[in-house]
Amino acid sequence: MTTQLEEKREEKVESDVTPLLSVEALDAGYDQSQILRGVNMVIPPNSVVSLLGRNGVGKTTTLKVLMGLLPSTAGKIVLDGRELGKMKPELRARRGIGYVPQGRDIFPNMTVWDNLKVSISIHGKSASNRLEEVYELFPVLKEMLGRKGGVLSGGQQQQLAIGRALLTSPKLLVLDEPTEGIQPSIIDQIEDAIHYLKKTYDMSILLVEQYLDFAKSVSDQFYIMDRGTMLTGGAIEGLSEELITRHLTV
Ligand SMILES: Nc1ncnc2c1ncn2[C@@H]1O[C@H](COP(=O)(O)OP(=O)(O)OP(=O)(O)O)[C@@H](O)[C@H]1O
Ligand SMILES: [Mg+2]
Repeated sequence: MTTQLEEKREEKVESDVTPLLSVEALDAGYDQSQILRGVNMVIPPNSVVSLLGRNGVGKTTTLKVLMGLLPSTAGKIVLDGRELGKMKPELRARRGIGYVPQGRDIFPNMTVWDNLKVSISIHGKSASNRLEEVYELFPVLKEMLGRKGGVLSGGQQQQLAIGRALLTSPKLLVLDEPTEGIQPSIIDQIEDAIHYLKKTYDMSILLVEQYLDFAKSVSDQFYIMDRGTMLTGGAIEGLSEELITRHLTV
């Protein structure tokens, strides 16, 4: 039996960890329509956190604000103790956030190698050091180095996008629905890659997902959004059937 004291102690341990990222009371929207309302989120170091929620609740919008692609109208984002403020996306990338947008966003007319080289040209030696590791995680990339990005399957493009982000040695890797529209064998490889990254590197992953089995398999914690606010969250073991039915299934 857990005593109240033990519970208190556990709470304390958790709050003692300085978060890698904290999002506080964030508001944002498009033109006249406000989408995010007071969004809060904490990502501890060395953890995988899933951001869950039905279609259109504001998950991608949250990531866009985090990446500096959309301005916030209130609230703050703190990475590694530093407030990001109005920092440009490129600088956020240099500060250690690697972003794989929904629908991937590789350069379809450039070869796989040239796509990867974009990261190498920006991040230099540390990026080229990681190349072999990326090939090991996603062997198909090495086989297809000379092919145009656009001829790859959806899953291969997703692997290319993740590989390219990994070359930047991010402290925080942000993935927006990496399993969307992808065949199961590649989903398994991405799952393995996340497990490997978690074990191997000092990094955290923020994952937006609708595929719950995948999210449960890789995550330590979850958050659930609805209509632009953060409803609840916690350790992934606490993602109950009740929460799923109430907030996630259609
Ligand atoms: N560029 C835009 N201009 C205006 N409204 C937008 C824009 N992008 C998104 N929205 C609106 O903002 C709301 C939140 O969208 P968002 O893309 O953040 O949802 P989401 O949770 O990522 O959904 P999904 O699971 O479908 O990807 C939706 O009502 C959407 O229609
Ligand atoms: Mg989205």
